[in-house]
Amino acid sequence: MKTENNNKVSVIGLGSMGTTLARLLLQKGYEVTVWNRSSGKADELVKEGAILAKDIAEAIIASPVIVICVYNYQASQQILDTAAVRAVLNQKLVLQLSTISPDEAIEAELWAAENGASYINGGIQAAPRQMGQPDTPILISGKEATYLAAEPILKVFGGSISYLGEKIAASPTVDLATLSYIYGASIGFFHGARIIESQGLSVAAYAKIIAGISPSFGEFLRHEGNMVHAENYTITESPLRISVAATARLEQTAIDAGINTQFPAFAAALFKKAELAGYGDQEVAALIKVLREQ
Ligand SMILES: NC(=O)c1ccc[n+]([C@@H]2O[C@H](COP(=O)([O-])OP(=O)(O)OC[C@H]3O[C@@H](n4cnc5c(N)ncnc54)[C@H](OP(=O)(O)O)[C@@H]3O)[C@@H](O)[C@H]2O)c1
Repeated sequence: MKTENNNKVSVIGLGSMGTTLARLLLQKGYEVTVWNRSSGKADELVKEGAILAKDIAEAIIASPVIVICVYNYQASQQILDTAAVRAVLNQKLVLQLSTISPDEAIEAELWAAENGASYINGGIQAAPRQMGQPDTPILISGKEATYLAAEPILKVFGGSISYLGEKIAASPTVDLATLSYIYGASIGFFHGARIIESQGLSVAAYAKIIAGISPSFGEFLRHEGNMVHAENYTITESPLRISVAATARLEQTAIDAGINTQFPAFAAALFKKAELAGYGDQEVAALIKVLREQ
């Protein structure tokens, strides 16, 4: 890894995210070489000062740090796992910013090591227009020395970097866990919007209230997460039995209103199971014990 005193970066993949990453680097004075499967996508960046590599091997040779941000792992492998790339990969630092799975990250790190490169994995948790801000969240995992070498470049992409340690699968794992939270909350939000509609109320006003309570709900979840981590289910904030009653009420409300019952039925069944297992008089975080079963 020869990144000291070097401001050269190659960006592979010029979709909406890769283009944004290349542009941010150009704006910070990096010498940026770019490559994309469809070459037309580099035109604007070249006008802004990027160098278009004639082929992928030239892009790899051009810089000590290779940022790759393409559709998925298969696309990344189709680009990188070729004889031409393997021949020039020695000593390079590969910063993978495509969204890939935990197993794929493990495979990619091994593949990079076999070819003499260091590898670090990132999960971008923002849209292209949100990149480059002090609060842009990026999850990172991989060898600490590699992370430290890549840190100045990562800080160009976003100021809120969570370095999750040397286990390479950590960033895609946390990215997936975060998605689980986001989709769970989103489905609950939209079901709530149907309750609002069924009473002829304003979904916009409801959405404003949700936005208002979200920061304190985040703090509540942080508390619950700490309890799971400590395996301590003593009631501190919210007894599980309250959620049993609340989700049963939600299901009954949906039935009475003639709206979709899938979400409250699922939630009510899960909390009922927890109560039947004897967790009613524990903190709501005890729900994790039901989810640990198959
Ligand atoms: N956009 C977002 O909001 C966002 C947010 C967080 C994370 N991400 C992650 O960032 C990555 C890139 O997203 P994006 O929004 O930039 O996607 P995008 O605009 O759809 O661009 C996809 C890129 O992948 C390339 N590609 C796809 N299949 C390929 C293949 N088989 N061989 C070679 N290149 C291939 C495309 O090349 P061509 O131009 O030749 O088709 C293009 O450069 C994804 O993993 C995504 O999950 C995106």
